[in-house]
Amino acid sequence: MGKNKVYIETYGCQMNLADSEIVKSILKDKGYDFTEDLNSANVVLLNTCSVRDNAEQRIYGRLGNIKKIKDNNPDTVIGILGCMAERLRKDLIEEKKIVDLVVGPDEYRRLPEFIDTAYAGEKGIGVKLSKTETYDDIIPYRKDGLSAWISVMRGCDKFCTFCVVPFTRGRERSRNLESVVREIEQLSERGFKEVTLLGQNVNSYNDNGRDFADLLAACAVVDRSMRVRFTTSHPQDLSDKLLYTIAEHENLCNYIHLPVQSGSDRILELMNRTYTIEHYLNLIDKARKIIPGVSFSTDIISGFPTETEEDHQMTLEVMRKVRYDGAYMFKYSPREGTKAYKMKDDVPEEVKGRRLSEIIDLQQKISYEINQQLIGNSEIILVEGFSKKSDEFLAGRTDTNKVAIFPATEGIRAGDYVKIRITKATSATLFGEVEEMVSLSETKVNKTG
Ligand code: SAH
Ligand code: SF4
Ligand code: F3S
Repeated sequence: MGKNKVYIETYGCQMNLADSEIVKSILKDKGYDFTEDLNSANVVLLNTCSVRDNAEQRIYGRLGNIKKIKDNNPDTVIGILGCMAERLRKDLIEEKKIVDLVVGPDEYRRLPEFIDTAYAGEKGIGVKLSKTETYDDIIPYRKDGLSAWISVMRGCDKFCTFCVVPFTRGRERSRNLESVVREIEQLSERGFKEVTLLGQNVNSYNDNGRDFADLLAACAVVDRSMRVRFTTSHPQDLSDKLLYTIAEHENLCNYIHLPVQSGSDRILELMNRTYTIEHYLNLIDKARKIIPGVSFSTDIISGFPTETEEDHQMTLEVMRKVRYDGAYMFKYSPREGTKAYKMKDDVPEEVKGRRLSEIIDLQQKISYEINQQLIGNSEIILVEGFSKKSDEFLAGRTDTNKVAIFPATEGIRAGDYVKIRITKATSATLFGEVEEMVSLSETKVNKTG
């Protein structure tokens, strides 16, 4: 049997999900197998997130549970990967006695070596950040499915003052364009129907002068029946060329995640976001002209240092102006080592909480209204499978990334595209009836409709 069963739990953003697949590929190559049962694992790895304090607290809580496993079986190797590994380094090993290895995002190639060291009873730390590592040559370990994540760049050079990512992920670097295209070709052959290109700031993708629009265009033509999504775009770097590229290719989804963070220019400046609300709103207008029907989502932080009631009102105002389809909304969380950490965290917890609730309530109202307006429209859905609640319904997503549910119909399966007519909607879900099966190249109606 040998000591070869690995269990991985992944926290944080999609980059971490993609990294866990790279980690699995590296381990698989060395003869490791994977288990979904924590209790039968010889190696337990947590791929962690540091973005907010509550993300880290959750992982500390989980380590508490995992301690029992180590108590029962002291040979189990416990490892911390990802952003917490990078941020806390040897503190993790010193404070959490059960942790045997700590490996940051750019050192995964050395993971097998660290596991061997741990089996020999030594603790190991690998947290060097790299200027060049992109894991370009590693084919991520993926189960068959419809949808895959592909990291196209790593790191971030933006240094927003609230954010740990530039510290935990290091400098920006892009993968080679051809290697991304090759990966999509392989996924297409395996029957995947959707890829999401990932980076903290995909708009600064640069492979020897080939920019993100070039990459997207190259990805779009690999397989016209595959949807191509991407995240995240920074408002400063989103180019006209990119907007025209999205408009041009049917299978590049009409959905842009464009974090605004705050509606106040004063706060944006303190955050080092490098754009004004005027620039941001112009960008949204331009995108809507170039890509009819494009939808937007955003990230918003409430209670950044010095945020006044007036600043907060400006955030609500920008939400009303843009009318996002969706938003990820957070309370500001001070992170050691960042510039904002040196500013006083002076917005009281209850004020942060109240402002956040107002932001969430407004977003819910807007999402509901937008979805109500879709009733009567036709939408092309990529079918993902049965709905969570019942096998009598199928679920999938629209081009604009909304979940849609419709009655299961003979002959329609996961991976098919169908046109449905929307009959009902909540703030989070569309409900509809099947009109017809379609192939993605016939979906023009959706783009102009
Ligand atoms: N690179 C992406 C995502 C970074 S992390 C981007 O630039 O949008 C995802 C989101 O977490 C951020 O957009 C921000 O809204 C939020 N976030 C990051 N640091 C935070 C902090 N210290 N407190 C609260 N929210 C934070
Ligand atoms: Fe963090 Fe800003 Fe980089 Fe996004 S762009 S990862 S928020 S520093
Ligand atoms: Fe978290 Fe690291 Fe992603 S801090 S959000 S896992 S880049």
